[in-house]
Amino acid sequence: MKKTQVAPSILSANFGNLERDVKMINSCADIIHLDIMDGVFVPNISYGTPVIQAITKYATIPVEAHLMIVEPQKFFKDYKKFGLDSISVHYEACTHLDRTINQIKELGMKAGVAINPHTNESLLTDIIKVADYILVMSVNPGFGGQSYIPYITQKISRLKSLINSNNPSCLIEVDGGVCLDNINEIVNAGADIVVAGSSVFNSEEPQKTIKQLQLIRD
Ligand code: DX5
Ligand code: ZN
Repeated sequence: MKKTQVAPSILSANFGNLERDVKMINSCADIIHLDIMDGVFVPNISYGTPVIQAITKYATIPVEAHLMIVEPQKFFKDYKKFGLDSISVHYEACTHLDRTINQIKELGMKAGVAINPHTNESLLTDIIKVADYILVMSVNPGFGGQSYIPYITQKISRLKSLINSNNPSCLIEVDGGVCLDNINEIVNAGADIVVAGSSVFNSEEPQKTIKQLQLIRD
């Protein structure tokens, strides 16, 4: 039995009223998820430093950055200064992933490795030993509001076994298309944290949806 941690993605929030949306998330969610996109690693640009600072000013729960950018290490020190708790970098964007993960940890933040849908979890056998969490993309990164890719559920289960035998304290976060219809399947496969963008912010009652996603399950 466990409570699922829910990390609403600010990408789907109302950028005209970020203060209101951050305060709403503070009141019931577990983590604030920031999607940083550079238009190079992914075919979209999201937001950068001034917006991150506006969000951290109002955040009272942990904030994580999901860096969909090349050369992510350029920003680690700034993000530490802004008070971020965790940073995930993409396996596909980092040539020296072990060094990059250690740079995040040396700054006192939690370090995650994100993988695109096509990236097989077996490639993580070694890095799992030093990562705090693996972020499994369940859509192709770049945009909110896409549908969950069904084959990801099996990958979560296989990753869970790999983690159990290599570093049981490493958590699994699942990101993309998570909603009330598939949350049980995702959590039962092994997810500890779920990102939810459109399913929370497009909901009539976002706080109620967050609480439903967190519900304890068998
Ligand atoms: C996609 C992002 C996700 C996305 C989630 O590139 O990493 O965090 O915003 O949004 P939904 O929940 O709408 O798929
Ligand atoms: Zn994300």
